[in-house]
Amino acid sequence: MAPQLNAIHNRDCFAGLRKLDEGSVHLAFADPPFNIGYDYDVYRDSLESQKYLQWSRQWTAEVVRALKPDGTFWLAIGDEYAAELKVMLQQEHELTCRSWVIWYYTFGVNCKYKFSRSHAHLFHMVKDPDKFTFNIDAIRVPSARQLVYGDRRANPTGRLPDDTWILRPQDLPEGFQPDGDTWYFPRVCGTFKERTGWHGCQMPEQLLGRIIRACSNEGDLVLDPFAGSGTTLAVAKKLKRRFLGFELSAEYAQQARKRLARISPGDPLDGAPEPLVSAPDTANGRRLKDLKPAAGRKRRNRDADPQQQCLPNLFPDGP
Ligand SMILES: C[S@@+](CC[C@H](N)C(=O)[O-])C[C@H]1O[C@@H](n2cnc3c(N)ncnc32)[C@H](O)[C@@H]1O
Repeated sequence: MAPQLNAIHNRDCFAGLRKLDEGSVHLAFADPPFNIGYDYDVYRDSLESQKYLQWSRQWTAEVVRALKPDGTFWLAIGDEYAAELKVMLQQEHELTCRSWVIWYYTFGVNCKYKFSRSHAHLFHMVKDPDKFTFNIDAIRVPSARQLVYGDRRANPTGRLPDDTWILRPQDLPEGFQPDGDTWYFPRVCGTFKERTGWHGCQMPEQLLGRIIRACSNEGDLVLDPFAGSGTTLAVAKKLKRRFLGFELSAEYAQQARKRLARISPGDPLDGAPEPLVSAPDTANGRRLKDLKPAAGRKRRNRDADPQQQCLPNLFPDGP
């Protein structure tokens, strides 16, 4: 029997996907484990490489089978297997890649001996290159402790550049045009209101919003084989799509169900719809000199701080 719709099912997606009727899904979005040793609660994210590829081959084949002839498949994947999976989707499953989107995010994990990762790959694949949903009008749109917020917690030596080299998205709006394939959305980090707090890979609702608005219509069926915190399904529900998700972890599935129960069709998406204008640019940012010294703590003399010398002169007009 086909799984119940508008629900998240606590089961292995491969088994669940096989129960789906052929050609029943309008849009699938998958953010699978990247096989990088991430610590999920039940899934062990460290398969031998060939095993991971074979597993990926199997579940992606089921997604493709379940897609409608004019259906769309978005795959989020890390650098480690991006090349192999893109070739697999195109050459073995005969999908056509419409866009290779780079999701550039801030608040990634800081690395010491390599550039900090600040992107994931998003492959936009369609079954039929001549017939697919792409709602252009639905998706049109027009860090920074140190540079903008005058935050005392900022490391005075700054940070290593991300591996997408750019100063700050707010300072380079022409670098992130709506029709470009480098997108900027902050990662849902620990302090964000949007953060559910119990799943480390929660994706931003606004990112899913763009994909679901562009590639499906109200009433369409949106599938997520790796539901995690339930972001895809939550956004699909808010945008009045039907939805279906699988999640291996009983705990995650239960929490995601609670998240879904709290929202209604038509609710606004979490997060800033236009991240480029949601925070001040560098010129208009807050400076340490604008702040009153914190009670009980002595303000450090910037000139006397040897580490501070490493920073280029970011503020030619002061402080
Ligand atoms: C990267 S996370 C997805 C995060 C999600 N995009 C979100 O915004 O919360 C991958 C999820 O896949 C789940 N998972 C791993 N193997 C699975 C399988 N065979 N079937 C279903 N879910 C699986 C993991 O438990 C994890 O929650």
